[in-house]
Amino acid sequence: MTQKCEFNFPADLLICPICATELTHTHCDGCQNEYFILADIPCVFPSGLQQKVLWEHQMAMMAAQGGEALASLDNMLQGYDVSALTRDRLEIAYAAMAQSLKSIMTLLEEGGLRAKRDARFDQAEIDNPTEYYHHILRDWAWDNEKSQYFETHANDANLQRVLAVWQNPKPGKMLVLGAGAGRLSWDLHTHLDAPLTLASDINPFLLASAQRLIQERRAISLPELYTYPQIGYSFAKSWNMVPPTDEHTARKRWFALGSDVWNMPLKEASMDTIVTSWLLDVTGGDVKDLISVIAYLLKPGGRWINTGPLLYSRNLSFDKKYSAEEIIDFACMAGFDVQMQSVDEIAHMVSPLNARFHHEQIFSFNAYKQPEPQALPKPSNTPQWLTPGWLVMHHLPIPQITFECERGHEFITRVLELVDGQRSLYLISQLVQSSLPEGVDAKEAVVAVFGQILEGMARSAP
Ligand SMILES: C[S@@+](CC[C@H](N)C(=O)[O-])C[C@H]1O[C@@H](n2cnc3c(N)ncnc32)[C@H](O)[C@@H]1O
Repeated sequence: MTQKCEFNFPADLLICPICATELTHTHCDGCQNEYFILADIPCVFPSGLQQKVLWEHQMAMMAAQGGEALASLDNMLQGYDVSALTRDRLEIAYAAMAQSLKSIMTLLEEGGLRAKRDARFDQAEIDNPTEYYHHILRDWAWDNEKSQYFETHANDANLQRVLAVWQNPKPGKMLVLGAGAGRLSWDLHTHLDAPLTLASDINPFLLASAQRLIQERRAISLPELYTYPQIGYSFAKSWNMVPPTDEHTARKRWFALGSDVWNMPLKEASMDTIVTSWLLDVTGGDVKDLISVIAYLLKPGGRWINTGPLLYSRNLSFDKKYSAEEIIDFACMAGFDVQMQSVDEIAHMVSPLNARFHHEQIFSFNAYKQPEPQALPKPSNTPQWLTPGWLVMHHLPIPQITFECERGHEFITRVLELVDGQRSLYLISQLVQSSLPEGVDAKEAVVAVFGQILEGMARSAP
C-alpha cells in the first residue's frame, strides 16, 4: 500500500475531486483514491496517481526526443565540410539544448518524478510540458534587461493592467487558476499583501519552476535558443533566474497546487478572489463552464479578475469562440456584476533575444459575485424569459417554478420531476442520460424540453 503523506497546504480547503471528502494527505479516506506530491506541491487530479504516471511518461518522451535532437546535431558536427563559423553555431546550439534538457529533467527529478515510458500512453495525444517554456523566461528572466516596449518591464505592466481594473483591491483568499510559472500570482500576492494565495496549474514543469523560485528560494538556469538567425541578436543565451525578494516571508502564505481547472479539489465558496490570466482561451473547454467553476469556488461577494486575449485554439468549435460581450453576458447570467473593463493592445512575449514578438489585444475585467440570486422574470417574449441564465449556463440551478406543458411524454415528466430548485441542467442531464437511447445527448434533449416549455409559456402569457 502507498504511504500516506501529509500535504503542506493550508487547512480546510482541499477536497478529493472524486468524492469531496476533505483531504489532508495523499490518501482519500472517503473513496480511497491516491494522490501525490511534486516538489512539496499537492497534486490532486481525479485520475490520482495516473497523473504522475502520465507526467513520467511525458518526461520519458522529452528525454527521447531531446536525445535524438542532440544526436542529430552531433552528427552534423562530424561533417568534414562544416566551416568554423557553422561549427561554432552548432556547438552553441548543442550546449543550449543539452543544458535545457538537463535543467528540465533535474527539476522534475528533484520534484520526485522519474522518466518512465508507459505503453498505455503510446497512442495517446499528450501535451509537452515544455509548451510554455518561454513563459518561465518571461516571468523570471527577461525583465533583467531593459525593454523598449515597457516603461518598467513586462511583468510590471501585467500587474498594473490588473490593478487598473481592480480598484481598492482586497484579495482575501486568492486563487490564481492556470498560474503558469507563477509570476503574476506572486506579484499580486506581495503587492497586495494577500493573507493567502494559491497558484494552481496542470503543468509539472511550470509548477516545479514556480515552487523552486518562490518557495525553495533556489535559482534556476535555463537557456533560450532560436534556430533562425537574426542580425544583431545572439541566438542563444543561458539565463540565471534568481528567487524574487521576500522581505516579509510572504512565501509562507503562497502555495502552489497541481490541479485541473475542470476538477478543482477545493471547497465550494472557499475563495474571496479568483484570477484568470491568459487562461480563458487556452483550456480547450467552454468558457461558460469555466465561469461556472469560478462562480462555484467564489464566496458570495467575491471577485473574479480576468486578463488576457481571446485567441481561442484552432480546434475549438466556432460557436464556443465567444466575444468579450458574450463573456460579460454569461458572467451576468452566472450572478456576476462586471464593474470595470479595459481593452489594451500590448507587446507580448518580447524576448531580448528575439526581434519578433506578438502584438495582442488584452481584455481585462473585474466582476463581483452578487450575494443574492437575481429575481425571476415573468413569462414573456423577451430574451430574459426565453433564454434565462440557467438554460444557457448549464451549471446554474433550475428555479422551482411551475413549468406549464403537456406531460404526455415520459421523458418530459421525468425531467420535470427532477427540478427541485437546486439541480442544474447539467446535473439533470446526467441523471437522465442512461434512460435515453445510445447516441442521444441528454443535455441537448433537456435543453430542448425547457426551451420549448418556455416558448409555450411565453405564447400563452397574458
Ligand atoms: C497561456 S498560459 C498563462 C499562464 C499565466 N497565467 C500567465 O498569465 O502567464 C496558460 C496556463 O494555463 C494552464 N492550463 C491550461 N489548461 C489547464 C487546466 N485544464 N487546468 C489547469 N491549468 C491549465 C497551462 O498549463 C498554462 O500554465
